[in-house]
Amino acid sequence: MSEAIPDSSARSEARVELRAVSCAYGSRVALRSVDLTVAGRAVSAIVGPSGCGKSTLLRVLNRMNDGVDGAKVTGSVLLDGADIYRAGVDVVALRRRVGLVFQRPAVFAMPVFDNVAYGPRAAGQRDKRTITRLVESALRRAALWDEVKDRLDGDASALSLGQQQRLCIARALAVEPEVLLLDEPTSALDPGATARVEDLLAELRRTLAIVVVTHSMAQAARVSQTVAFLDGGALVECGETRAMFTRPTDKRTQDFLSGRYRS
Ligand SMILES: Nc1ncnc2c1ncn2[C@@H]1O[C@H](COP(=O)(O)OP(=O)(O)OP(=O)(O)O)[C@@H](O)[C@H]1O
Ligand SMILES: [Mg+2]
Repeated sequence: MSEAIPDSSARSEARVELRAVSCAYGSRVALRSVDLTVAGRAVSAIVGPSGCGKSTLLRVLNRMNDGVDGAKVTGSVLLDGADIYRAGVDVVALRRRVGLVFQRPAVFAMPVFDNVAYGPRAAGQRDKRTITRLVESALRRAALWDEVKDRLDGDASALSLGQQQRLCIARALAVEPEVLLLDEPTSALDPGATARVEDLLAELRRTLAIVVVTHSMAQAARVSQTVAFLDGGALVECGETRAMFTRPTDKRTQDFLSGRYRS
C-alpha cells in the first residue's frame, strides 16, 4: 500500500534538503554527492555548464528518474523533513506537491482548457465548477489568461512557444504544488515573454518554493535569492545571489558567473 507524504501545516514554508545525493545513468555519473537546501518562499537558481547535471537535479527532486532505464539515485531528498525516496511513498502525490516544468514545453494534444484541467481531473476532481475555477486561477497566475480566455477550446499546440511555456506552468500550478521546478523556462522566449515569466516567478515565490535552471546569469541575478553552481555533477558553491555574484569563494564560480568559463 502506498503511504501518503504528510502534508505540512505551513505549506508555503516547504523546504527541500538534498543530502549526499548522487545520480547515475548506467555507468555515467550525473550528480556527485550534492548537499543543498532549497528554502520556501524563494527562488533558487541552478546554474552550470551544459551537461553538468542541472536537469538531473530537478528530476531527482520529484522522482522523475524513477521511470528512466538504468537511472539510479542514492542519498536522501527531504521534503519537509521526510525522505521522498523512502519505501512506500506515493509518487503521484509527491509530484502534485513538487511540480516540474520541462526544458521543452510539452503541451498535451488537447484543448487549452483540458491541458490545465488535466492535473485536477487526474487527482479525482469531478466538480465542473471547481475545475473551471482552478483552470482560470492557474491561467491567471501564469499570466496567460488574457491571451487565451477566448480560445480555451482551441488546440494548445496552436499557441505560440511562449504561450505554450506559460501553459505548462499553468498546468503545473493547477494542482496547487508547494514546490515548482522550472527547467530553463525562458530559453525559447522573446524578451517580452521572458519578462512576463520573470514577473511571474517574483509573484509565485510569495507562496511557493521555486527552483529554476537557467543559462542566463542575468536572469539568475534578477530572479533568484540563492544561486547554486554545479560543475561536472558536483555542487561547487551555493549561497545568497548577491554574494555569489560579488564575492564567490571558488574561482570556477567566479569565472562561470562572469562569463569567462571555458569547459
Ligand atoms: N536519460 C539519460 N540517459 C543517459 N544519460 C543521461 C540521461 N539524461 C542525462 N544524461 C547525462 O547526464 C549528464 C547530465 O545531464 P543533464 O541533462 O542533467 O545536464 P544539464 O546540466 O541539464 O545540461 P543542459 O544545460 O545541456 O540542459 C549528461 O552527461 C547527460 O548526457
Ligand atoms: Mg538540462
